Amino acid sequence: MIAARVPRWKINWYVTIDSTQLEAQRLAAQGCVDRTVVVAMEQTAGMGRLGRKWHSSPGEGLYFSFVWRLGLPPRDMPAYTLALGLAVKTAIEEVAEIPCDLKWPNDVLIGTRKVSGILTQLQDSAVIAGIGINVGHTEFPAEIAEIATSLRREGATLKTSEDLFVRLLDAIEDSTMTMIELGRDPILRLFGASSSFVWGRRVVAEHDGGMVRGVTQGLDDNGFLVLRKDDGSRVTILAGNVRPE
Ligand code: BTN
Repeated sequence: MIAARVPRWKINWYVTIDSTQLEAQRLAAQGCVDRTVVVAMEQTAGMGRLGRKWHSSPGEGLYFSFVWRLGLPPRDMPAYTLALGLAVKTAIEEVAEIPCDLKWPNDVLIGTRKVSGILTQLQDSAVIAGIGINVGHTEFPAEIAEIATSLRREGATLKTSEDLFVRLLDAIEDSTMTMIELGRDPILRLFGASSSFVWGRRVVAEHDGGMVRGVTQGLDDNGFLVLRKDDGSRVTILAGNVRPE
């Protein structure tokens, strides 16, 4: 039983749900306990960042959200998203034994393809964080077929997602405690060292309704990505998508 392996988390399982993120928001509004987790075999309205959809086919992915009243100020949320990315990378690398890259701000990649995404929201004092990992997918819809991958497609032979889930919840606790006790700095340093996108990478990024091109120059104090444009000026990317040029 997974509940016995993660006794500090309260896990609510669903066969199918609109979105674990929406259910976690509903439970938070009703005053659920901290570390309540909503996990589903299938989502019919899985949500990605920036209003996108998250492909959530039945039984193939790990789709979950948790509620934790961490009391983090909004300013810490970008860094907390990075902290969760580090947790996902750790869990996949240890359990599936496949090296991962992190693409700022919320993508976990295997090679150049996305295997996991993270969505963090603040509802009153509660962090509501959702994580999707493509585990057993053999194929994807045409619109993401070129950019997505799954652990299975990358050669992992996990019989179930349980060990991955347990390791990930532990890693989330570790990352969260680091953030609470030591603040953003160690997370930002670790992310910078764990991602091939943070330093010296030529990218195109969405910024101010347009696109900017430049070479990445690390993260600022909040965890935003700094680019040096070809004219030498610097620009800080706050939220938009980033891709290699
Ligand atoms: C992204 O990469 O844009 C973020 C994807 C987040 C997907 C997860 S799946 C579990 C949780 N429920 C949702 O509806 N979304 C998140």
